[in-house]
This record gives sequence, structure tokens and C-alpha cells, in this order.
Amino acid sequence: MSERLEDIAAAMVAKGKGILAADESSGTIKKRFDSINAESTEQNRRDYRQMLFASRAAMRRNISGVILFDETIRQMGSNGKPLVDLITAAGSIPGIKVDAGAKEMAGHPGEKVTEGLDGLRERLQEYYKLGARFAKWRAVIDIADGLPTWGCVKANAHALARYAALCQENGIVPIVEPEVVMDGPVAAHDADRCYEVTEWVLNTVFAELFEARVMLEGMVLKPNMVIAGKNAKNQAKPDEVAEKTVRCLKSTVPASVPGIAFLSGGQSDVEATEHLSLMNAMGPLPWNLTFSYGRALQAAALKSWSGKPGNIAKAQKAFAHRARMNGLAARGKWSKTEEKKKAA
Ligand code: 13P
Repeated sequence: MSERLEDIAAAMVAKGKGILAADESSGTIKKRFDSINAESTEQNRRDYRQMLFASRAAMRRNISGVILFDETIRQMGSNGKPLVDLITAAGSIPGIKVDAGAKEMAGHPGEKVTEGLDGLRERLQEYYKLGARFAKWRAVIDIADGLPTWGCVKANAHALARYAALCQENGIVPIVEPEVVMDGPVAAHDADRCYEVTEWVLNTVFAELFEARVMLEGMVLKPNMVIAGKNAKNQAKPDEVAEKTVRCLKSTVPASVPGIAFLSGGQSDVEATEHLSLMNAMGPLPWNLTFSYGRALQAAALKSWSGKPGNIAKAQKAFAHRARMNGLAARGKWSKTEEKKKAA
């Protein structure tokens, strides 16, 4: 495959395909495993992720890339070969989470700033050797009374831009992920408040990317959708989410960005699929719109697997179905009828 950043970015958002976010940190994967009463051991994490990456047809058809956690990019599969090989054998691109997590921001109660810039150049060089061709950095922006502050938006956008520039210097496509969260500690805001904050955050991020000399053709944006907070009384309907999200992105994201791959952020899997499909049906759009889902791609498969080797085939079927539904959504062609057809 071509090693040009533009070509890698275009492949990541190719029509009908999207990204599998399987980069849960040790703490997050433990939470996911707790929900199915499975222990978070190194072997269980390996077996679970191997189950996903070995879903050959689903990977080949619908998964353009996989975001990995540091442990997984170094891990061997049950056949003694790197798990990364399963991903490349399916024609999919390995990627790596490189941020060190969102930490309490000094002087900014209730807000977070993402860490991980120190030593990042050297880590990117190592990840490149391990096969990564794209990376991810997630910034977290919470909405509450008087929040976010400009200090928090600015610091997170600046860190995202410095990360993105370092990635490109090292032949790696940056996924730039500023997440305005829908399930934070308060999360009682409506979709209009989410719109206002998302617009502010994206404008700030693109100003910082410009100043950091990031080549927009060689990046992928991973934003939240414009949606009400989990605890809001006033929930937005699917059409409203789609319309507001597209309007917000059109007013903030330059057309030179090849693709936008949404996070699911706490939406149910079917909601995340429906929203994406409605947006694509509104086209033509300046960029490809697709998914980079974690929970919304994995929830059904995780439950089917439940930590038992005997459930692998069933879990792969659940994953294949979800991947196919999101593949259809990335073309604006998902429907409730398709949803009902379980994977053959
Ligand atoms: P969710 O789709 O579960 O929000 O995860 C995507 C992701 O990679 C968050 O950083």
C-alpha cells in the first residue's frame, strides 16, 4: 500500500468502510469485561480482540482500520504471530492510541486536559516499526454550568495540533479527536448547547492545526455528533441530530479534510448507526462521513462472547452484523429492515 499520508487517510475513510476503535486502556477494558463478568487478564484481552480481528469477512468488507492499545500492538495471537498481522491480512490498517489519557486540568476545576506529548516523537517512531500507520489522540470537553472554559478548549486544541504535527512528521496519519462528551458528570445539556460548544471547539482545533502546519489532506477528524447529553430531559430526534451535526461540521471543517469518522460516545449501537446513515443520506457532503466506533461496534459482540471460548463464532456473527450495518450507514443506505436481517 502507498505510504503517502493522503492515501492512508483516504483508505481509512473509503466508502462503505470505517474504523474499529479497540484501543480501550487497561482501566476501560476492565470496565467492559466487568459488565460480562469476565476477568481482565492479558490472555482474555488477547482472546477477545483476536476474535474481532479474525472476523475475516467483516474486517475485509467494512473495517478500514483498527485502533489498538499499546499492549495489543505488541501482542501475539494464539498462533504465535502478531495480532497486527491479522489486521493487515484482512486488508485493514493498524493504528495506535498514543495519548496518555485525560487528566484533571490544573486551575480548572471540573475540566480535563489530555497528556502525552513528552517523548511522543520517539514513541511514534517505534509504533511505525510495529506497523501503525495512523494514531489517535482524544481530548475530552465536558459541558456544565460555565464549562467548558476557554483555557480548557485552547489547551486541548493546542495539544491535539502538536500531536498531529508529530504524527505527520513520522509518516503516521493523525486521528484528531476532540470529544464534547454526552455522558460526562453533568451531561444535562440539550443539542443546541452541544452545537454551540462543538462549533467553538472545532473552530479552535482547526485554527491550532493551521498554526502547527498540519496538512489537512493527511488527517482524519473524529468528532462527537451534535446530540443532547445523556441526562437531558429534552432529547433530540434522529433527524435533528443528523441535521445539526452536518450543519455544524459544514461551518467548521475545511473541505480538504478527506474524512470524518465519528465516535459513538455512549449512544446505543443502533442509534449510532441510524444517525450516521441519515447524515450520509443528506449528501453530497464535502468529506466522507463514517464511523470510528468503540462501544457501538463492540457491545453486541462483547455480550455474545461473555468470556467463553465456545461463544466465539456467535460473537463474530454479532460483530459482522454491526460492521455491515455501519458499512451501510456510511453509504446512507441503512434501514430498519436491514437491521432485522441478522448476519447470514
Ligand atoms: P466510543 O465509540 O465507544 O465512544 O469509542 C470511540 C473512541 O475511540 C473514543 O476515544
